[in-house]
Amino acid sequence: MAEMEPERSRNGRAMGGGIGETYPLQRLRRRRPRLLRGSQWTSNGTKAVCAGRAVNRANSAAALLRWACAELAALDDPRAEAEWLLAATLGCRRATLHARLQECPDETALQRLRERVERRGRGEPLAYVLGSAEFWNLDLACDARALVPRPETELLVEWGLECLRGRTAPRVADLGTGSGAIALALARDCPQAFVLGVERDAAALQLAAENRRRYRATNLTLSRGDWLDALRASSFELIVANPPYVAPGDPRLAPEVARFEPHAALFAGADGLAALRAIVVAAPHGLAPAGWLLCEHAPDQASAVRGLMIEAGLSEVSTRPDLAGHPRATGGRSALLREHASPARRATGRGWHHGNGP
Ligand SMILES: C[S@@+](CC[C@H](N)C(=O)[O-])C[C@H]1O[C@@H](n2cnc3c(N)ncnc32)[C@H](O)[C@@H]1O
Repeated sequence: MAEMEPERSRNGRAMGGGIGETYPLQRLRRRRPRLLRGSQWTSNGTKAVCAGRAVNRANSAAALLRWACAELAALDDPRAEAEWLLAATLGCRRATLHARLQECPDETALQRLRERVERRGRGEPLAYVLGSAEFWNLDLACDARALVPRPETELLVEWGLECLRGRTAPRVADLGTGSGAIALALARDCPQAFVLGVERDAAALQLAAENRRRYRATNLTLSRGDWLDALRASSFELIVANPPYVAPGDPRLAPEVARFEPHAALFAGADGLAALRAIVVAAPHGLAPAGWLLCEHAPDQASAVRGLMIEAGLSEVSTRPDLAGHPRATGGRSALLREHASPARRATGRGWHHGNGP
């Protein structure tokens, strides 16, 4: 199909729309959505009338694609969204959808597509509707148990891998691991590292465990806990965190994000800085000498986070922009020489297994 768009991220790659800002693929246009208005599907499935269009059961995938596009017209990129949903329904990749457009999907597929289009039309994140999200080079299981991993969070992975370069068996902690996105990306791209993913929410931790199984990441351990409490006396060469950092009532938060994504993953105290504050204050106790702390934050929190890191005694404090040019992550380094966890614990890597992970 000549007009097929090239394969691109389902998560709005490189758009730089953080949690605290309008998220590109979830943004509904201002005009009133006409999604599924007047949709009527007959119980025997022989004929469906959706938004005034007749869709016959014998219709081809091409006709269904046109129908889905029309139903999702209120979204920013209805064509791309319709292609993702139809490809998932047919069990193929979006890039190969063009080869399937003459097929006539059966009633089960029709029903599944209709449900998916309805969910997306109500504003549910595409990643939840599809049950998967792209992050880094991973295809992660994704649902309402955890935040949809954002493209701008890949900055933490990129920066983290830079910090780990040349280290032989570094220990890494990902605080608030959610779906396990950052932890898995680091564990896979730095196979010599031992990575610990910490998460307070049991359901999110289960999702992270599913993703760990999906990628057979034997160098990733998951633990339920509260930020650095789960690290106890361990010393980490790298601690990364993408904590909640939105203030309740922040008008920049897209309503669909607040409606569908876990609030524990979004909101952090009256100023949005509560989680960042807790992490930065405690981080020096969890870092190995010359270890790095890297935190994601909203663009307007960059100077506050740099201040917190300097106050906590970290050096080489700096902020990096995401691909959209927004100050998105700030990092700092612990002192080179410092008392830290015992050599025995460092050698065995013990101190992060608490038996309460999935
Ligand atoms: C913004 S989400 C980030 C999820 C994932 N790391 C990512 O980048 O997609 C923040 C995560 O921190 C978790 N969280 C919130 N408070 C926590 C706490 N006190 N200790 C550990 N995790 C916490 C939330 O449940 C959520 O999964």
